[in-house]
Amino acid sequence: MSATKSYRIASIPGDGIGPEVVSATIQVVEKLAKTLGTFDIEFDHIPWGTAYYKETGKYVSEDCLDTLRKYDAGLFGAVGAPDVPDHISLWGLLLALRGPLQLYANVRPVKTFPGTKCPLNTATKGIDWMLVRENSEGEYAGQGGRSHVGQPWEAATEVAIFTRHAIERIMRFAFETAQSRPRKLLTVVTKSNSMRNGLVLWDEIAASVAKDFPDVTWDKMLVDAMTVRMVGKPDSIDTIVGTNLHMDILSDLAAALAGSIGVAPSSNLDPTRKNPSLFEPVHGSAFDITGKGVANPVATFWSAAEMLIWLGEKDAAAKLMSCVENVCSAGILTPDLGGTSNTQGVVDAVCAEIEKLI
Ligand code: NAI
Ligand code: MG
Repeated sequence: MSATKSYRIASIPGDGIGPEVVSATIQVVEKLAKTLGTFDIEFDHIPWGTAYYKETGKYVSEDCLDTLRKYDAGLFGAVGAPDVPDHISLWGLLLALRGPLQLYANVRPVKTFPGTKCPLNTATKGIDWMLVRENSEGEYAGQGGRSHVGQPWEAATEVAIFTRHAIERIMRFAFETAQSRPRKLLTVVTKSNSMRNGLVLWDEIAASVAKDFPDVTWDKMLVDAMTVRMVGKPDSIDTIVGTNLHMDILSDLAAALAGSIGVAPSSNLDPTRKNPSLFEPVHGSAFDITGKGVANPVATFWSAAEMLIWLGEKDAAAKLMSCVENVCSAGILTPDLGGTSNTQGVVDAVCAEIEKLI
């Protein structure tokens, strides 16, 4: 027997349905670890979020980066509350971590999942894409300001920042990702017709990095045309890379085209592995269903599976996903997918599948 690996995970449930889907996921992952016996995993609760903000005036603790660096990875739920402006909560928690930890690659696999229906009849076998979003700068660099507040001549700027360093590293990551997938196909999304500085730099760097990946077929698309291609020719797409804003939007579109945002996972990676990476569902805190016990936990299950892959537990991740797929195929689904199960019902069914693994 090889020595059992052991992982410590920072659990940051956050707001809204975040605590519901994170607690569901911890139950399932702990069950998986106990059943397989091939690794140990421990989750520590970290209370950052809107309640913490109302108590302390800050969304995260002063030493939040050092706190997180003690862990192998983080599992995050969602942030956002009806009585706090969204830009305060998002910058207070999520964007306060992504930038400083240089979690520069936001990776979102999108697949038509068992139990979900792809609304596109142009996707012959459903969708299976990998979206890579630049996660550290661009349109979300936080540069800008407001002058003459409240006056009719009030002015605001929101300055996008594009650096050779950041574009090159995300481009390399995207080419490597495309190369690791069977189709070895990459689409670079920009808007370099109207944005004639930063996004022309994107195009130039894409062309130069591409030379190091002769086995990857790549093309470029303007972001507006890309929305048309995603809907009209989904089978022509495999891996996509783009800027922070463009991929934020395209990844929601992709989740909707796959069938539901309730199953869409994401990883915030530091590919240099100097900092712990953060794994989270794509969805937000979903005020409309908070506390009802019906949140779909599958997006967070899948995010945890991506976390296990990142930690090196590929086999355990594959087993977890096959259990989740079996449960969805059996029609044990939450209402967002047309089912009648609640969150705990899905958790119990997945745990029962995990028991069958031995
Ligand atoms: P949302 O993703 O919270 O909800 C959109 C719709 O999808 C709602 O009808 C919701 O009920 C449904 N939905 C989302 N996740 C679901 C799940 N797991 N199961 C079943 N249904 C689900 O997006 P919205 O309404 O735009 O934002 C609400 C709050 O969340 C805002 O404060 C926003 O800033 C924040 N937000 C936070 C994110 C994050 O923490 N990464 C991402 C997106 C939004
Ligand atoms: Mg989004």
